[in-house]
Amino acid sequence: MSGLSRRSLFYGGAAIAASAGLKSSLVWSADAAKAATAPGAKEEIFLGANEYPDGPGEAARRAVAAIIPKGGRYLDSLTVDLVKLFASKLGVAPDHVTAYAGSFMPLNWTSLAFTSPTAGLVAADPTFTVGVRRAQLIGTPLHLSPLRSDYTHDTEALTREAHEKKAGLLYICNPNNPTGTVTSRADIEAVIRNKPKDTVVVVDEAYIDFTDERSVVDLVASGADVVVLRSFSKIHGLAGLRLGFAIARPDLLARLNRFGHSPLPVTAVTAGIASLEDTALVPTRKAATARSRADLVAWLKNKGYTTSPSDASFFLIDVKRPGNDFVTAFKSRGIHVGRVWQPYATAFRVTLGTPAELAVFKQAFTSIEQELKSVPVQSAHVIGDDHSEWGHVC
Ligand SMILES: Cc1ncc(COP(=O)(O)O)c(C=O)c1O
Repeated sequence: MSGLSRRSLFYGGAAIAASAGLKSSLVWSADAAKAATAPGAKEEIFLGANEYPDGPGEAARRAVAAIIPKGGRYLDSLTVDLVKLFASKLGVAPDHVTAYAGSFMPLNWTSLAFTSPTAGLVAADPTFTVGVRRAQLIGTPLHLSPLRSDYTHDTEALTREAHEKKAGLLYICNPNNPTGTVTSRADIEAVIRNKPKDTVVVVDEAYIDFTDERSVVDLVASGADVVVLRSFSKIHGLAGLRLGFAIARPDLLARLNRFGHSPLPVTAVTAGIASLEDTALVPTRKAATARSRADLVAWLKNKGYTTSPSDASFFLIDVKRPGNDFVTAFKSRGIHVGRVWQPYATAFRVTLGTPAELAVFKQAFTSIEQELKSVPVQSAHVIGDDHSEWGHVC
């Protein structure tokens, strides 16, 4: 293991242990524990992968701890309970919902199921590209449409492209990653109404609970050619436990699931049930995120920086010079921010952390501004646009 990855693991572990209220010595080696408590020991801060900074809620943590002795069983009936519970919350029948270990898999499978060398994929640019990359792998023609100037999806252009290019799949990430911008339900309804007959619309709602926008999940119940994806990695804080869902007509789910399915980790399933039953969790986290977002956006605006109009737990900051200058400078201070996307090369994405983490972020931002004053501005370019499967893809 390289020094860098060992260090990240250690600091990541210390952070996890601290946020779980555990002593790091319980989690890591005695050496690591000693270093963690040494004067001047510094924790890295992770504001780059759109994780929820507080992790699982209290009820989910208790449920995970309680299930561990039963971890030798598949416990399929628990997954059935989870699916029934989530389906009833969404107002759809349980046979319209499949649970997965995260939403990466169903997203990958939508590309494999609905696209081909003769059935293209239409999406915005920039957007979350996991499905796009899978489609590329099987020779699917891609058609990426720039966002509108207000960063929303240009739904008319996407619909037009879908007709012109005989799309098998039209992907809408709502709110969009990396901008955090909401595309209105009316616009998505228009896409579904006006799309070619054979195009399946995939609406990725990984961040929908952070917004006031209505989910389109009810359109699934009404029989539309739409697959809605949900992730419990975000507002539910279960990124490392892994839980996600596809919600669609059973015939569409069958097309996804012919690529295979796997029993879920019992820890994820029980955490998902507990998290759903904790009805205060989502509204509390949504409000806390909105407060942090408003605070950081106002602070940046006061300094003369613009941000993408986000309703989610992250946004782009235009730093008026190559975004990577800031990404690299943050990294050297142990702060991991998001990456840079090609159409907005003078911006980088930041995920909202805890108020304490954001205070450190602000301090570092100011010091980086000073540091970069003496560094000539090169033309903006995107480096580290790392599309490796387990790299920086969120
Ligand atoms: C828009 C979007 N969809 C899906 C995912 C995948 O999430 P997971 O597999 O953790 O559920 C992410 C992760 O960041 C995302 O940003």
